[in-house]
Amino acid sequence: MVQPYKHEPFTDFSVKENKEEYLLGLKTVASYLGTDYDLVIGGERVSTDDKIVSVNPSNKEEVIGRVSKADRELAEKAMKIADETFKKWSKVNPEVRADVLFKAAAIIRRRKHEFSALLTKEAGKPWNEADADTAEAIDFLEFYARQMLKLKDGIPVQSRANEYNRYDYISLGVGIIISPWNFPFAIMAGTTVAAIVTGNTVLLKPASTTPVVAAKFVEVMEEAGLPKGVLNFVPGSGAEVGDYLVDHPRTRFISFTGSRDVGIRIYERASKVNEGQIWLKRVIAEMGGKDTIVVDKEADLELAAQSIVKSAFGFSGQKCSACSRAVIVEDVYDQVLNRAVELTKQLTVGNPEDITNFMGPVIDQNAYNKIMEYVEIGKGEGKLMAGGKGDCSKGFFIQPTIFADLDPNARLMQEEIFGPVVAFAKAKDFDHALEIANNTEYGLTGAVITTNRENQEKAREDFHVGNLYFNRGCTGAIVGYQPFGGFNMSGTDSKAGGPDYLTLHMQGKTTSELY
Ligand code: NAD
Ligand code: ALA
Repeated sequence: MVQPYKHEPFTDFSVKENKEEYLLGLKTVASYLGTDYDLVIGGERVSTDDKIVSVNPSNKEEVIGRVSKADRELAEKAMKIADETFKKWSKVNPEVRADVLFKAAAIIRRRKHEFSALLTKEAGKPWNEADADTAEAIDFLEFYARQMLKLKDGIPVQSRANEYNRYDYISLGVGIIISPWNFPFAIMAGTTVAAIVTGNTVLLKPASTTPVVAAKFVEVMEEAGLPKGVLNFVPGSGAEVGDYLVDHPRTRFISFTGSRDVGIRIYERASKVNEGQIWLKRVIAEMGGKDTIVVDKEADLELAAQSIVKSAFGFSGQKCSACSRAVIVEDVYDQVLNRAVELTKQLTVGNPEDITNFMGPVIDQNAYNKIMEYVEIGKGEGKLMAGGKGDCSKGFFIQPTIFADLDPNARLMQEEIFGPVVAFAKAKDFDHALEIANNTEYGLTGAVITTNRENQEKAREDFHVGNLYFNRGCTGAIVGYQPFGGFNMSGTDSKAGGPDYLTLHMQGKTTSELY
């Protein structure tokens, strides 16, 4: 019998053995640095001359791996194979499909610290952040496998006398999985396996900054017994391969996680019915955030400062869920701001291979430049209280940065920066704080720090975000516990790790028989 789902525990690195295992993981990863990885199309390895070079963001000189790059011709080949394989895979017993996920979870669990160490090298994740990413990947496999077992016999519907009605879910077809670099393991794996366990075949196009962890994941799925042609690995340029696959008439659905602008582009393009297309494409698009922690005047102020700092600067603020705005009721504004500044000044920044560094680098030169531009904008819009400096000589390091006294409509309060920058704004009272928090086109996460139950309930109703947290930070949703997804320009609110997620990859079929 399948055991009930429980999330993968996080590793306690104060335990000597755990620390040693992580260091061993780093050594294992070092042993395969610079390796070439092929495309995988119908189970066959395809090497191309043109490569995506994945580098360590802490050390630009260190190549993590060189990954073959698909072009349109190879993408077309992969599409044909996926389309053909769908006919067989969609008929495979859902229990067998779920078993592949269970086995993959077991393989990853055995190599947990190696995978996390790879995330430290390839994405610049500090140990705890990398460990959480790997744990989340395992959770998605375990959770979606169980969800499929729940759905496999359909959903009960009513039948009248002499009638037998059934409501079943059937697979959709070929899905295009387009994933981001900031949860290069969890989101890449989660979106891929949700599509696969529901009987679809996929083309996986990972982010170009983190393709090696995706290549390693494809190997795991093969080892777990996934038949050839179900998961096709086609890293490549978003503009070339991405557009081509989004537009393709045989694409049945697209599962995208990434920025607002790319999400909108995909949504628009997918809505066009191209020649030979006989369906309306389905789009799951999970996009950016401009997430706020609201602090009431009746609140644990130490908790407030700690929550803001951790949510703003964990993984250098490169989370869609990161706190990039702190809105504080004026009575306690100075206290919370000063304590947050004090805590921020204690944070250490450096190579995340060293466990004592709280923050590592940002992902690449483009991200570095964009964030530093926002730091300059911030200097004109608010008061720099901490950080504000960067160094991209060896890796892409930016100090955790706090700006104070922002106008709610300032660019720092409106635009997703996706880096270690948080803007503080003062509110007249709690209602005003909620108004400022809702003054954004996004609606992903938010948190409220308050001891006033009435205000908490007001926020529960009026704070318009997909994931709202009370008296804690606004990051760190757990699969199966806090289904994750946002409103408005944060996307389609698909709620990854939630009870409805798999059905987005299927279509309901009603059958009715008269006796
Ligand atoms: P991005 O939009 O730049 O890229 C995401 C993916 O889209 C990559 O694989 C990229 O290669 C691909 N892509 C780019 N152009 C494309 C095109 N024209 N057609 C098809 N695919 C294309 O985002 P990113 O920088 O990788 O990730 C950061 C963003 O992702 C942030 O905005 C963050 O908030 C968001 N994000 C959202 C969630 C969520 O669940 N809502 C989770 C993680 C990250
Ligand atoms: N699921 C991630 C979080 O909640 C993005 O922080």
